[in-house]
Amino acid sequence: MLQMEFNRWKNLSEIVPVDVESFVNVYNSRDEVLEDIEKFAVEEKVPILLPSAAALLELLIKLVKPEKILEIGTGIGYSTIVMAKAFPDAEILTVDSNLKRLKVAKEFFKKAGLKNVTVIHSDAFELIEDLLAEGEKFDFIFVDSVKSEYPFFNFKIQALLSERGMAVFDNVLFRGYVCGKSYDEKRYSRTVNLLKLFLNQIKEYPDFSVTLLPLGDGFLILKRKSPERG
Ligand SMILES: C[S@@+](CC[C@H](N)C(=O)[O-])C[C@H]1O[C@@H](n2cnc3c(N)ncnc32)[C@H](O)[C@@H]1O
Repeated sequence: MLQMEFNRWKNLSEIVPVDVESFVNVYNSRDEVLEDIEKFAVEEKVPILLPSAAALLELLIKLVKPEKILEIGTGIGYSTIVMAKAFPDAEILTVDSNLKRLKVAKEFFKKAGLKNVTVIHSDAFELIEDLLAEGEKFDFIFVDSVKSEYPFFNFKIQALLSERGMAVFDNVLFRGYVCGKSYDEKRYSRTVNLLKLFLNQIKEYPDFSVTLLPLGDGFLILKRKSPERG
């Protein structure tokens, strides 16, 4: 199947029926800048967080009210803007290795009038090592990078979470391929196997509660358990 044919290039999920997702997207409010990014993403075929998943991300940020947010995978800045607007008091550190996308993201941040975002052009693995060495902690970490990387920085992400920390990983169901939907094995089996490894790692975490939702491309929420209440 050609990549062009995927619903995701129309900002639609591969795992939620198209009519259902199109229906709910009408109700999930977003401002002009976010709509502009959605249009840009479709025109230029750039991946962004799907709007239905963005609606949940926004709600989580409003509930957690994180002082410090780390985002792995800025892309063109859609999810960054969602988080920055949901809680403008948060300090956001966002990283991407793709300079071309970061340039576009910075333009959108300007348009959105964001003041609380620091953009880092780097490989996420390097930044994570630096942050760990500096003893940095974050109340919220949003991971939206290359799916096959998830099992490799998973434990480090946990180490960066504060006591009340929450981490969200996007794309963990990868168009449903990790749950048995058929796929081009030659092309995708490495990613599918690494995502399965990641999901198995998650099952073994006694310190975190796990919520895995069939939303967007598969949305995983990890919440550090509180010592008293679980
Ligand atoms: C799906 S896009 C991010 C979309 C973005 N969160 C949004 O909603 O607009 C994934 C991004 O992760 C970046 N990325 C992937 N692996 C990375 C790594 N190891 N270090 C830094 N950036 C990485 C890619 O360059 C790409 O721009």
